[in-house]
Amino acid sequence: MSEVTYFTHKGILFPIDFYTTENLLYVENEFQFLDDDVMNVVYPKSGTHWMSEILCLIRHEGDPTWVRNVNLWNRTPWIEVVEGMKLALKYPPPRLLNTHLPIQLFPKSILHSKAKIFYTARNPKDVLVSFYHFSKTQRYLKDPGTVEEFLEEFLNGKVIFGSWFDHVKGWLEMKDRANIFFITYEELQQDLRGSVERICRFLGKELNSQQIDSVVENASFHKMKDNKMSNFSQIADDVMDHTKGKLMRKGICGDWKNHLTVAQSEHFDRVYQENMRGVKMTFPWD
Ligand code: A3P
Repeated sequence: MSEVTYFTHKGILFPIDFYTTENLLYVENEFQFLDDDVMNVVYPKSGTHWMSEILCLIRHEGDPTWVRNVNLWNRTPWIEVVEGMKLALKYPPPRLLNTHLPIQLFPKSILHSKAKIFYTARNPKDVLVSFYHFSKTQRYLKDPGTVEEFLEEFLNGKVIFGSWFDHVKGWLEMKDRANIFFITYEELQQDLRGSVERICRFLGKELNSQQIDSVVENASFHKMKDNKMSNFSQIADDVMDHTKGKLMRKGICGDWKNHLTVAQSEHFDRVYQENMRGVKMTFPWD
């Protein structure tokens, strides 16, 4: 693993390990969607693995064999990662794919495709906290420093994949397209079964009641925390320092209250208001 360094591609930071400008340009300009592709789009730390697991379980009518036997990054490769793109290109259709990319770096071929896109957003204060802890565990990410220091970087978009505000606002511009499904981490928390039913309807996938129960059970935090194919425990020690934390950390809403001071939270609110002015959507955290 190289010393931690980031590069900037079109104004967005990426770690030099696993990402290249060439692949990012390929993703944006040359990657071709297939109409039966399903793409999971999530800003980091907003529920990427959770939604991936749900989509994998739905694909197999609630049967957990696949999610228990194949690593999540092979089941749902990340197209912006060099190795992930290689997997995506040899993935037998229908493909299930992941990305953290902001809309401006997303494959242009989506404009002429019926591929189904899921976008999951999460309370940015909880994203910040999750990102902070995750950054300490991943050796290719810069040490986040103090919460105060990381808060400023996060609010200024000086983190990998750029500004949370720009990501969400950019993707919201797509929200009226028939092939995009918006959901929040908080909705998944509040009503996982109802969310799974909505996701199935969008996918045109009919699951019976027991199959839906199995999706809900196997996508629960506790099941995923113990699933070595989904919980990052198989990641090599030179990539992840397993002594510093876990991917499946707490899996709750509102953990930011345990991390941010009143002053930090108010500062966050002011930056949020400025950045989200004019956005015509009410989120569970508003
Ligand atoms: P916390 O760090 O707040 O616990 P991502 O998959 O985008 O990297 O996001 C990781 C976050 O999603 C972590 O949040 C993790 O615990 C949470 N998460 C993963 N699977 C989950 C599940 N089944 N239920 C609830 N939260 C989950």
